[in-house]
Amino acid sequence: MTKITNLIKKMSLEEKAALCTGAGPWTTTPVERLGVPEMTVTDGPHGVRRVEDVHTFISTSVPATCFPTATCMASTWDVDLIHKLGQAIAEECLALKVDVVLGPGVNMKRTPLCGRNFEYYSEDPYLAGEMAVSFIKGVQSKGVGTSLKHFAANNQEYQRSTISSEIDERTLREIYLPAFEAAVKKAKPWTVMCSYNKLNGTYAAENHRLLTETLREEWGFEGFVVSDWGAVHDRVDALEAGLDLEMPGPRERRVKAVIDAVRSGKLDESVLDEAVRRILDIVFKAAETQKGGSFDIAAHHALARRIAAEGMVLLKNNGVLPLKDQKHIAVIGLAAKEAYYQGGGSSHINPTQLDNPYEELQEMAGDTELSYAEGYPSDESFNQALIDEAVSHARSADVALLYLSLPATKESEGYDRPDLDLTSHQVALIKAVTAVQPNTIVILNNGAPVVMSEWIDGTAAVLEAWMMGQAGGGAIADVLYGKVNPSGKLAETFPLKLIDTPAYINYPGENGAVRYGEGIFMGYRYYDTKEVPTLFPFGYGMSYTTFDYQNPKVSSQTFRDVDGLTVSVDVTNTGKMAGKEVVQVYVQDHKSGLVRPPKELKGFAKVELQPGETKTVTVSLDFRAFAYYHPAYRQWITEDGEFDILIGASSTDIRHTKTVTLHSTLELPSILNRESTLREWTEDPRGMSVLASLYQQMNGQMRANFGGNDSEQIGMDPMGFLMDMPLMDLLHFLGSSMPTSPEKMVDELLAKVYSIA
Ligand code: BGC
Repeated sequence: MTKITNLIKKMSLEEKAALCTGAGPWTTTPVERLGVPEMTVTDGPHGVRRVEDVHTFISTSVPATCFPTATCMASTWDVDLIHKLGQAIAEECLALKVDVVLGPGVNMKRTPLCGRNFEYYSEDPYLAGEMAVSFIKGVQSKGVGTSLKHFAANNQEYQRSTISSEIDERTLREIYLPAFEAAVKKAKPWTVMCSYNKLNGTYAAENHRLLTETLREEWGFEGFVVSDWGAVHDRVDALEAGLDLEMPGPRERRVKAVIDAVRSGKLDESVLDEAVRRILDIVFKAAETQKGGSFDIAAHHALARRIAAEGMVLLKNNGVLPLKDQKHIAVIGLAAKEAYYQGGGSSHINPTQLDNPYEELQEMAGDTELSYAEGYPSDESFNQALIDEAVSHARSADVALLYLSLPATKESEGYDRPDLDLTSHQVALIKAVTAVQPNTIVILNNGAPVVMSEWIDGTAAVLEAWMMGQAGGGAIADVLYGKVNPSGKLAETFPLKLIDTPAYINYPGENGAVRYGEGIFMGYRYYDTKEVPTLFPFGYGMSYTTFDYQNPKVSSQTFRDVDGLTVSVDVTNTGKMAGKEVVQVYVQDHKSGLVRPPKELKGFAKVELQPGETKTVTVSLDFRAFAYYHPAYRQWITEDGEFDILIGASSTDIRHTKTVTLHSTLELPSILNRESTLREWTEDPRGMSVLASLYQQMNGQMRANFGGNDSEQIGMDPMGFLMDMPLMDLLHFLGSSMPTSPEKMVDELLAKVYSIA
């Protein structure tokens, strides 16, 4: 008998029930008499927010490195760097005596309005999944746990505690679950945190399908499921659904409800035992890692700076950047002196130190004269004098740097943004400054897209610096001066206007539900399909150098789905500066049974190149890169046929296309039923084989009934019309000429189809 099974046998019902609810806001319940220790968890996800006293809710957080938020992390497209970040966070957890960090967050950015998008990676499930895998592996390689959150379909903050995300099965499988799935299967997070919202009418915390059937039975998750803080509604239902640990505690009533349910026979004690086993597994695993000591503050600050610089995205540059030999730079904007580097809510870190963007710039600027004007107020008020002052600085300078951040509380957990706009004051400021200074460079600090159409044309350059973490001030200077050649690429589309966004007419929902009406057409999948112009497409980002893509290759022209494919391309740095390029591989299906987006990201690689250097970049594509989820088969399927492999520098900058032919190895079961149309029967090999002679007969008769091949009589193509009628209905039309009733005939045909295994 294992140690844990033994322990469970020794635990009283009361002790077991208590273990399944936290002892406090951040700790699990210890069982001292049996040597079960307390385990400490803290937020996440871009740093360690450990409160001084983990037994109280509100107390100051101890200093920890505030790394760039997830938006910036994902824009690096650098899985190795994110792995390092994970390791650094784990080192801080060890020093601060934390067992599990509550992150990463892998919810999809369905709408750019979601208040919490800064904590999430991408609008693309593949990219988000890869980032999460690296983060989790990095953290857990040091013996610290993670909590993959928020499972699932928590894509807005509006009514997050009650709203039901109404999502069809295919959309869920292809868009909202894959990042969780990849993380669970490839990185094995110790814990998964369920979300607050309902999914198709059932709270995530009480959703057996989600927490048990999908997460455990299908994906093989072995850790424990923890509730988001306060997400449980019915403790017993939640346990039965697969939710092991309710947080925060203490909640005596919940513990009592579990005890009563076992005593009354409502809850099988084995369900409780299983939850206890999962929690104990992790509690003891965590205890194996020695905690304490310190972490290297300076090294982590330097790492935060590196990640910030790699994640910043150069959106526009007419050649003014990198800065060089300027005599006088006008630095304008509050964000130059008050760094805006993280968002609001549970992820808010108390940084170990904080870069001042202005001072960092000054350090790098050498002899260049800098002058500063505040430019805009910290709130949404209007102050013309600030604009006038900024204009006078800008006019006399060689270059104006406009440091702009969204108002401090605009992006936060708990609520969404009302719009995608900078403040009207900031827009007026940009317009006024660009009117007198052609070399105006806008530096943006925000966690999610803002719209720019009103002002971008007047600027010389725009740098998206995100919520850049505590070392972001230095990172901005690194990029502006070319100490770091920008290589970040957008992990989400920047729309021209809010009304263009895919979820626009189905957000924020009403009557307690939000319908994901755009289905799988979210993010670039939508803009591509509808040919909606964007401000900046997914995957886009500029560099100070240029890259040439040559010699695209695929490992074979025809291949089996299970074997996958390897794609390679030679990338050359054709400019004068060393730089990094993110090569993106998208897959496009020529023809499919169900509608598919024009292209989907299925692989990427980041490569560093010296001027003139060439490297071969290789990306592997597996079964899933070509498959789609078919709700009728309830599985991922591939279909024989041609696919285009698109190799590009962004989702719209495709440099090469290779066409390949896939052979599906799947033996799909038949899905014909009494309602299947004639077309569905003829397209199903088994269906066609049993229908063949009847089909001949029907075909002749139908043509005769509809006036031979002459479609003019009824102004339609008779076969086009008939093919999409259910076979049963057609047989009814043919009626008396058939030997038995249509129902019986179809049932007999179906029996034959299902007997051909
Ligand atoms: C958030 C989680 C967080 C938890 C603990 C919740 O409100 O949704 O992301 O981990 O609080 O702070």
